Amino acid sequence: MSPNKDAVISLRKRFQEALSTQTFGRSVLWLDSVASTNDEARTWAESDGSHGAVVFADHQTGGRGRHGRSWHSMPGLNLTVSLILRPAFPPIGFGLITLAASLAVCECISSSCPGVSPSIKWPNDILIEGKKCCGMLLESVITSDRNGSYVILGIGLNVNQAEYPARLRASSTSLMLACGRPVDRALLLADLLQRLERTYSRLESQPDSIVKNYESNLDGIGRMIYLSDAHSGTRYSGIIKGIDDSGALLLDIDSDPGSDLDIGVRAFHAGDVQLIENGE
Ligand code: BTN
Repeated sequence: MSPNKDAVISLRKRFQEALSTQTFGRSVLWLDSVASTNDEARTWAESDGSHGAVVFADHQTGGRGRHGRSWHSMPGLNLTVSLILRPAFPPIGFGLITLAASLAVCECISSSCPGVSPSIKWPNDILIEGKKCCGMLLESVITSDRNGSYVILGIGLNVNQAEYPARLRASSTSLMLACGRPVDRALLLADLLQRLERTYSRLESQPDSIVKNYESNLDGIGRMIYLSDAHSGTRYSGIIKGIDDSGALLLDIDSDPGSDLDIGVRAFHAGDVQLIENGE
């Protein structure tokens, strides 16, 4: 048996003992290695993958990030998981799932690493002291038959990885680097799913409270940023005012390269944020 297989079997056993959810993680596909857990979860969802089912991989050979980027994660050290969700609410609210998930990840990090204060970089990067430890990839399939629609929520959380490739070194961190000791991935996953189940259920009943809570954990409010708009490719600069009730970023634009007329607060639905440091 490969060391990978042994590690996954032991992790699975400890996870099952720790799990206290109703639905999330009650059905898990445990994989030593796969191209992308999001792709695997989608295949499962297209057959009989139920709401709350999870795909776990100890290693991804083609992990995907937002906007066609790749997701780097060394084998056997981190969490790379995808959750199948079959929302009971209309597709217009699907985007809010990453807000609920961002809150769950922040709570989970604070609980497993006391003294560490994670924050959210819009839309769904989780930072510790300005460095990224978690990214999320939400992919929706919307059908005309409402019951056929589903969402795949992919989460990449850096847990025990200490070394990063040169291109990521300055901007990446892990829970181990932040709290100075290794973190048990099995217990962390069980805790994360418990918190995800709770924030997801709060999203269903009180979406406004999720939006408010998310905004209070958002990095950079009142700060000057660059925003590369994912739709137009345009780079704006402005001050983050907060988010609206759809989760869009509200930016007070100081200069719009496309027009002189539209300066003011605008809502952006997808893009990349970069803080402008003093003097830049
Ligand atoms: C990002 O920050 O760009 C999003 C990264 C999402 C990575 C996770 S790892 C598990 C799941 N499977 C993937 O291929 N991607 C997501």
